[in-house]
Amino acid sequence: MSVVRPQPPEDPIHYDPAAVFATGGVTPAALAALSGRLDAARAESLADLDRWRAGGTRPGEVLDPAFIDLPDRLLAAYKADRTSSELFAILQTARRIREAVDRVVVLGIGGSYMGTRALFEALCHPFHNELPRGERGGRPRLSFEGFNVDNDSAQGLLDLVSPAGRPRGDDLLDRWAMLVVSKSGGTLETAVATRLFLHTLAEAVGNDRKRLAELVVPVTGKTGKLAALAQALGCPDVFDIPDGVGGRFSVFTAVGLLPAAIVGIDVVQLLEGAAAMNRRFREAPVAENPVLRYVGVCHLAEADMGCTIRVLSSWSSRLEAVGLWYDQLLSESLGKDGKGATPLTAVTTRDLHSRGQQHQDGRRDKLITNLVVGEPRRDRLSLPKLAAGAANQDQLDDLVGTTWPEMLAAATAGTNEAYAQAKRPTADIVLPRIDEHAVGQLLQMLMLATVVEGRLVGTNPYGQPGVEAYKHFMMRRLRG
Ligand code: PA5
Repeated sequence: MSVVRPQPPEDPIHYDPAAVFATGGVTPAALAALSGRLDAARAESLADLDRWRAGGTRPGEVLDPAFIDLPDRLLAAYKADRTSSELFAILQTARRIREAVDRVVVLGIGGSYMGTRALFEALCHPFHNELPRGERGGRPRLSFEGFNVDNDSAQGLLDLVSPAGRPRGDDLLDRWAMLVVSKSGGTLETAVATRLFLHTLAEAVGNDRKRLAELVVPVTGKTGKLAALAQALGCPDVFDIPDGVGGRFSVFTAVGLLPAAIVGIDVVQLLEGAAAMNRRFREAPVAENPVLRYVGVCHLAEADMGCTIRVLSSWSSRLEAVGLWYDQLLSESLGKDGKGATPLTAVTTRDLHSRGQQHQDGRRDKLITNLVVGEPRRDRLSLPKLAAGAANQDQLDDLVGTTWPEMLAAATAGTNEAYAQAKRPTADIVLPRIDEHAVGQLLQMLMLATVVEGRLVGTNPYGQPGVEAYKHFMMRRLRG
């Protein structure tokens, strides 16, 4: 197995809309003309935080801006008085769970699930769950449920953890724990999965109440049904989702940090990356500000070019779940009052063989933002000679020695060239590499951009009133 090369952690991620400008549909002059409004939207987004802190929420208004300085606050508390900090508590529990079990089942939906999945897929080994424990560094497997009510998926996971049908000893490799994540504590999908898995876990520990309580870690709001259940079970570790942080903005609370720490992700570096993005957001003028430039280009492409679909096109499979997390962030934040661009996640080159045709040749309603990764973390693969003495039947001998990053770079440049020729707007977000610091920057950049765009276009980015409608009708059918 090749080793992960140590990397300098501090490189900033970079936003480059040059290829959008090259289409002529959005110009640098138009972006410059928007800079006053972008500045005002930044100021309003930051003022939301002060207003929320001062208790200045207007009647009926949902205001959840506390995510903005959360990374800075968590780090400051950790550095000032380590052992009494929230981050220390997260790391301690992560360690306890890591040492006690070989699988953690995370139950949650929407913002209580998608951020964790994004971190896990981006920052852990792509086949983490398939590796033997030793090769996982002694870290548990991570499985997700409670984000749907799919009978067969839930049964499939029960097959892996249930003692029924398969005799299980008390071997560490057979032990598992569950994180139950729900801010409201009442979301049906998560709540029914909690009952199901609690039942199974209770059986697995022989109905030992103390052991059961130790293996259930709720992450929830201060009050609510899950908080009450945690108390009734006597769970020793319960984590709070702070007020003022909405579900889809909660990845840097215990919601994302606890499971991330359990599987060995460096959560301090993650927060350092987010805090670095905060500094750039607060301090840099529009012309050098990745958040404000991204918002400005997306907004102008929508307003002036009719690009109502925003494709986040990841040039790494590992960032697909970041794209799905962003789908939720943009949809629930700005898809209101008949407005809001439609997000769409693509993974390239995979989706060049599916969506690529439409992106190149279909309706001119798309802005493509590439997520481009500078350096792989692992040793570069290169094309070998054909094995077993075969002689160039595949006609690839001229590429022997070409590396995977070289082939991907050619695909990226070639795709952008083809889009440019057809005047299809594309921009790049360039990550130096996929590590905790870069992913921390990226997630914070996209969260900040979402709320700034809301303020720019007069949409409250907080709350998701539209999601309530299905819940109402579903519950009416279930309960009459
Ligand atoms: O962004 C949001 O607030 C929502 O997507 C929630 O995360 C989602 O509905 C799950 O809610 P809860 O965490 O209360 O179970």
